[in-house]
Amino acid sequence: MIRAKIHPSVLCANHGELKNDIVKLTNAGVDYFHIDVMDGSFVPNFGCGTEIIRTVKQSTDIPIDVHLMINDPARHIKLFCDLGADIITFHPETDNHPARTLSVIREMGVVPGIAINPGTSVEMVKELLPLCGHVLAMTVNPGFAGQPFLEYTVDKLKVLGKLAGEFGFSLCIDGNVNAERVHELLPLGVTNFVMGTALFRDDYLEVLQHTFI
Ligand code: DX5
Ligand code: ZN
Repeated sequence: MIRAKIHPSVLCANHGELKNDIVKLTNAGVDYFHIDVMDGSFVPNFGCGTEIIRTVKQSTDIPIDVHLMINDPARHIKLFCDLGADIITFHPETDNHPARTLSVIREMGVVPGIAINPGTSVEMVKELLPLCGHVLAMTVNPGFAGQPFLEYTVDKLKVLGKLAGEFGFSLCIDGNVNAERVHELLPLGVTNFVMGTALFRDDYLEVLQHTFI
């Protein structure tokens, strides 16, 4: 079986020691850093601006995945590409022409992806999936770390796991992921996992050790 790819959620890091956290996690062998950009409009919270992205980029060579929880993301794609995003995901509900925005991201040499809310069905985004290099399936409603995992999303993950192979995107989940979830969902075709609270709450080297087994 392939090893899970781990994306620590920078939102949950110790921001007084951000550089330190990033360096330690880099040395621990994580695969991406996940950066939640929130505008207080699409989601009822603010988070991770451009300064944080710059700090992360200056602290590591590991790629970053930028999760845009903002309205009208098309207006800001160039900004996030220029900041060094390696993957950009946005919520299709927030964009007038999501297919066009995915193409723009790809043309800029960045992996394009959509984030799928718990209340959004596969049918609603089916046409976009072949255009994605990455799909971020939300297992909580976006906006806050530390929420309970929504079990009803697992049926959708099974469907997406099969489509990931067919269309060639990496399937990532975001929302209350811990080591047990990784072991449960990796066989369904979920290959990438954002880890926030469960990783930063405890000794993260120990959590990663359990996750990688
Ligand atoms: C939620 C964010 C997540 C969050 C994950 O809106 O997209 O990336 O930081 O945190 P946990 O793992 O605590 O749910
Ligand atoms: Zn996220």
